Amino acid sequence: MSDRVALTPVRIAGLELPNRVAVAPMSRVSTSGDGVPTARMAQYYARYAHGGFGLVITEGTYTDQRYSQAYPNQPAIVSAAQIEGWRRVVRAVHEARGRIVLQLMHAGALSQHNRHRTDTIAPSAVPPAGTKMSAYGGEGPYRTPRAATRSELAEAVEGFARSAAAARVAGFDGVEVHGANGYLVDQFLTTYTNVRDDEYGGDPHRRVRFATEVVGAVREAVGADFPVGIRLSQSKVNDVGYRWPGGAREAEVIFRAVAEAGVDYLHLASEGQDWADSATLDDGSTVTRLARKTTGLPVIANGGMHALGRARSILAGGEADLVALGRGALANPDWPLRLAAGRDPRPFEPEILRPDVTLASQDAWEAAPRP
Ligand SMILES: Cc1cc2nc3c(=O)[nH]c(=O)nc-3n(C[C@H](O)[C@H](O)[C@H](O)COP(=O)(O)O)c2cc1C
Repeated sequence: MSDRVALTPVRIAGLELPNRVAVAPMSRVSTSGDGVPTARMAQYYARYAHGGFGLVITEGTYTDQRYSQAYPNQPAIVSAAQIEGWRRVVRAVHEARGRIVLQLMHAGALSQHNRHRTDTIAPSAVPPAGTKMSAYGGEGPYRTPRAATRSELAEAVEGFARSAAAARVAGFDGVEVHGANGYLVDQFLTTYTNVRDDEYGGDPHRRVRFATEVVGAVREAVGADFPVGIRLSQSKVNDVGYRWPGGAREAEVIFRAVAEAGVDYLHLASEGQDWADSATLDDGSTVTRLARKTTGLPVIANGGMHALGRARSILAGGEADLVALGRGALANPDWPLRLAAGRDPRPFEPEILRPDVTLASQDAWEAAPRP
């Protein structure tokens, strides 16, 4: 099978993409504390478009001034200044002939910093597993959250919907609900963080309810013709070993419910692991293949896809319609151009996870002669 399968066009709802390689969402915590995307961020995102990525998915962006913020210097899309900052990012990506989707994120219990308050909410008052991430200035255990009231959940849903509408106004090509990696939406899907005895807790049909309310409200806010996706994962930043206890049957319930609520694509992430480690289900199928089969929607696979052989076999083998690169994209903002030119990608060095190092390295790339 040709190396170039990744470079063939694909469509998500009405959005035509020139190839199947996306930049995975990556928090870069690069605002000045006010949640307003900067000119530097516009440059950073435009580089991926210049480098040939068919789709750029932004870092997780918080959705209200109540409980959604996760990290210091994280961008938001709530105030007029934040929307305007994103408009500048979108313009830069579009000028580079790229397409860009905004990831909408509510941290729930995994909030490490919130400039609006110190307490946190979650499905249930369960202390989160793991410890805060030092990369975002955190240390020690997470605070034990309060169980959100129904009206707080309605406010969180409204935050997603308003932010999605604002993303459309800012010119984005779509939005992606962050339902993965242990954050609020995923806290509802997860058995041990959701011990509610109301309509949001219990079997998988009930645990997926919050996700479907978010997707439904986002869909209503943006209209039928604006691409909406959702990112899901079994593993979490604070618990990489978690797997859906009901295996393939549970996965199917989740995939079908979010599709019926109105998503146009599913993005299956592998937090901190390669796809192969966390994609396999109890019946030997994989999350990406099952998501395709259950929903008939385009599916993005993530986790170690910068290894060319893996990306190729996943796409050619019908496991997924697109691949999303995280760390590989940081090291290679021109990964698709390299692929087209038959050049090997640069190896990933952990140092590049620091936003200042990413930018310096990508500046060097920009200054280098073009292929
Ligand atoms: C620095 C960094 C920041 C990340 N931030 C986010 C984020 O904001 N939203 C999200 O869904 N995933 C986030 N992730 C997870 C990545 O999207 C991806 O799932 C993970 O890096 C595995 O893919 P990879 O092997 O291609 O790097 C982040 C990963 C890294 C390395």
